[in-house]
This record gives sequence, C-alpha cells and structure tokens, in this order.
Amino acid sequence: MAQKAAEKAPAFFGQQEYAKGLDGVIACETHINYIDGAAGKMIYRGYDVEEIGEQTNYEETAYLLIYGKLPTQSELDDFTAKLISYRSVPPEVIQVLKIIPTAKTHPMSALRTGVSALGTFNPDAEEQSVENYEDIGLQLIAKLATIAGAVQRIRAGKEPVEPDPSLDHSANFCYMMTGEKPSEVFEKMMGLSLVLHADHGVNASTFSSMVVISSLTDMYSAIAAGIGSLKGPLHGGANEQVLYMLNEIGSADKADEYMDNAIKNKVKIMGFGHRVYKAYDPRARIFALHSKELCEAAGKPELYEIAKRVEEKVIDAYGAKGIFPNVDFYSGTIYHCLGIETAMFTPLFAVSRVAGWVARILEYLPQNRIFRPRAVYLGEKDLQYVPIDQR
Ligand code: CMC
Repeated sequence: MAQKAAEKAPAFFGQQEYAKGLDGVIACETHINYIDGAAGKMIYRGYDVEEIGEQTNYEETAYLLIYGKLPTQSELDDFTAKLISYRSVPPEVIQVLKIIPTAKTHPMSALRTGVSALGTFNPDAEEQSVENYEDIGLQLIAKLATIAGAVQRIRAGKEPVEPDPSLDHSANFCYMMTGEKPSEVFEKMMGLSLVLHADHGVNASTFSSMVVISSLTDMYSAIAAGIGSLKGPLHGGANEQVLYMLNEIGSADKADEYMDNAIKNKVKIMGFGHRVYKAYDPRARIFALHSKELCEAAGKPELYEIAKRVEEKVIDAYGAKGIFPNVDFYSGTIYHCLGIETAMFTPLFAVSRVAGWVARILEYLPQNRIFRPRAVYLGEKDLQYVPIDQR
C-alpha cells in the first residue's frame, strides 16, 4: 500500500519538500489579483490599484473581483440594489450581539460570532449549489457591514441603527457605526479604504476561507474562519497595534529613542514587512499621503510626524532587507483622525476583505480539491504501549 501511495505522490515524497509557513508554495490558480512584490505593485483583475483606488467605489470593486470585469452602469445598478436589499440582518442576530459581552470582547470576536449566528438563521445555508454559494456570498458582503456597525454601536452603549438604502455601501457603513450621515471626507476615506483592502493574494485569512470551503462546508463557516484569521496581529490586527505603538511613543521627539530600543531588542514593528512585498506596499503609499492631510485637518499633525519618523527609522534599519510600511501602517492614523475607535480598525478591514474572500471562494469551488498538506514527522516510532500502572 505504502509503495502504491509513493508512486502516485510527487517526486519529493519521502523527502518532504518543506516550506515553513507555506512560503513560496503555489496553492491555487487565480485571475483575481496579482502582487508584484519586488516592484511594489498590485492589480485587481488587471487594473493597477494605485490607478483605480480613488476612481472606483466598493460595489464596483466587489463586482470586478467576483465577476472578472468592470460592470456596465446597469450591471452596477443591479448589483448595488441587490447588496442594499441584503443589508438587514435578523433581529435575533442583533440580540446575540447584545447577549455576548460585545463591549468587552474584541470586536473581531463579536463580528465572527455575528456571522456564525447569521448562518443559523438561513435555512438554505447548507445547500451546495454554485448559485447558493454566490448568493450567500453577496449577502455576507452586505451584512458584514451591518453586523460591524451594530458591534460598534453596542460597544458605545448605543442602539444599532437600521441600514439606510439611500446611501452607498461605504457611506451606509459609516452611518451604521455612528448613527449620522458621514461628512464628505469620512465617506471618501472609508470608500478608499474599502477599495484598497478588498483583496490581496493568498494571505492567511483568504487561504483560511479557501481551506474551510474546500471541504464543501457552508459559506458562513468559511467567512467566520477568514475573520478569525484576519484578527491576528501578524495580519489585519496589525493596524490596531500600530496606533497603540504610535500612542505609546507619544511625540515625534521620542520616536528615535523608542525605535532604537525596538530595533536593538529585535522587536517586530507592527505595520512593517510583508511575505510578498519587498518594496513599499502601494496601498501604504496611498494611505501615507492621506494620513498627512487628515492628521493636519484633524489638528493632530504630530500623529503623522511620529509615524513618519518611525517609518524613516525602520527603513533605515531594515530597508535593505526589504522591510517597508505595509497597508496597516498608515491606515490606522486615518481611522483615528476620523474618530473611529482603535479596536474597530480590524473589523473595518474585514468589512472590505469579505469581497476578496467571496471572490476567491467562488473562483476556487469549480476547481475545488480539498486542501490537505502534510507535516514532516519528527516524533518517535515503534514505541511499545506501557500499561498505566507500570509508567
Ligand atoms: N519588524 C522587524 N523585523 C521584521 C519585521 C518587522 N515588522 N517583519 C519581518 N522582519 C524581519 C524578521 O525578524 C526576519 O528577520 P531575520 O531573517 O533576521 O530573522 C525577517 O524580517 C523575515 O521575517 P518573517 O517574520 O519570517 O517574515 P514573514 O514573511 O514570515 O512575515 C509578516 C511577514 C507580515 C508577518 C511580518 O513582516 C510581520 O510580522 N510584520 C509585522 C506585523 C504586520 O505588520 N502585519 C501586517 C501584514 S500586511 C497586511 C495584512 O496582512 O494584514
């Protein structure tokens, strides 16, 4: 039997070609997104994100990622109308968010719980047709913003608000968090942020969603897994950690000493480094520009100055190793200036990235093969069982 398995397996069977953290491993084929890590470029379905970032909106980006082309006006109108019609969540889901300690737990945990709860209210959750996966995927894109908005309201001791169908996705999301229609700047920055975070290669949360769906389970399980993975500080959770670090530094004149210590002690600096980019992340470049403007407009120019000095110190120390700011470095300074609670930064990321998770899942399902890597076994063999009274 072992002989037969060895014949079927790749040539390195038995030698275990091992890539820690799956570094460099090709796990699937895709048309959705390409990252040129050396040049610091990223494209959605052929479009350079730095070129389309400020021109498009979230609905158009989600459509592009999922359906592979820019929509016509009528296609976009239909897609937008569908997302609007899917925004509401059952009142019981809001009840669940009120019952769990949403104000005290991490909002990503509440978001993940909200998605799990939502799945239990859909009688069609387990139907395994492509159409059903797509439909639930679109529902989740619409409803994740509603759940995140409710999480923020409950955390602030306020009653969640109903979605406003007159607002587009990003404006409605701002509204659902604050209960007020957003200012032009708030709406623009949220729109840009949702576009820039929507998809990004086979990152940990995207891969988590794909691994989960590859067993042909339901869409809610896959998206809950994506949220769980994104939450970690090495992934989406870095944006929150960056702001804590900038606050801890406190003022631009203290940045050098803080960073010298961090570098000397080999502390990982949040918001820097990337598995694929060995150059400046293009999304960070866009956010850096807006961060400067927003910090000045909000009367917090020092926040940008601290960030800038941290960037200079990290590039000076590690730039030669290819460590530069990633998407999470400047985004938090923008959210902070918009008045968003720090713990909500990663949920904002999730509200955007759900489009990428859905697009990747829908792309992978027709070519589905269950993910099943192997481990290098380093343990013992041929041990004899010893009865408990003889150990
Ligand atoms: N600060 C200092 N050194 C770093 C950093 C950093 N932020 N990132 C990587 N390095 C060093 C690391 O110490 C190692 O050095 P050496 O070779 O001397 O041991 C080398 O660079 C390679 O690092 P790694 O951790 O093996 O790289 P990775 O590809 O496994 O991890 C990463 C990538 C993003 C997890 C890592 O760079 C990191 O932990 N960054 C900080 C957290 C962060 O900002 N995460 C957000 C990632 S981008 C957006 C997202 O996915 O949400």
